Amino acid sequence: MLQNKHHAPVWHGQPIVLVGLMGVGKSTVGRRLAARLDLPFVDADSEIEAAAGMSIADIFERFGEEYFRDGERRVIARLIDGTPKVIATGGGAFINEETRTLILDQALAVWLNANPRILADRVRRRDTRPLLRGRDPGEVLTALAQTRNPFYALAPIHVSSQQAPHEATVAAIIKALGLPLNGEPVPNSENE
Ligand code: S3P
Repeated sequence: MLQNKHHAPVWHGQPIVLVGLMGVGKSTVGRRLAARLDLPFVDADSEIEAAAGMSIADIFERFGEEYFRDGERRVIARLIDGTPKVIATGGGAFINEETRTLILDQALAVWLNANPRILADRVRRRDTRPLLRGRDPGEVLTALAQTRNPFYALAPIHVSSQQAPHEATVAAIIKALGLPLNGEPVPNSENE
């Protein structure tokens, strides 16, 4: 379930940044993790949409992926302000070298990992993701896993979200952070 390669990085109050492929549950897990730790939660994709005043699909369509990545980099840099919080990032954020360096230097990155075939079944329910539109999600996610997993693996904390319910994934993260597993259960979330 859990790998923590260096056995060291216990949380010191820096922002906790969730990275990993589309559909792995970064937003849902992040929201629940934040509630358990009594921290603010922020979704980088939603912040980008708010800053641009349009949906991610529209940003991709009107301005292209490169423009989106630039906005994503700037928004994440703004969100990583040294205060304790949980940040869910879009699946491509940690692949951008500048964004990744910032996260690795100034936050604590947690890779939520799952088999791309399982993710494909989850993402089929929504067609808001521009990289999946009109394409087979299984093929896209398998290809993305191949190119992106080596980058995600640079995160100091790895947690599998494979078949586990979100609450088990949250517990695994809390354990990896070196925090006690007490606290009230987190209410259900509607998103992702
Ligand atoms: C993307 C993932 C999306 C969103 C955009 C691009 C990616 O976020 O940022 O569609 O490159 O993997 P989620 O991972 O939250 O779906």
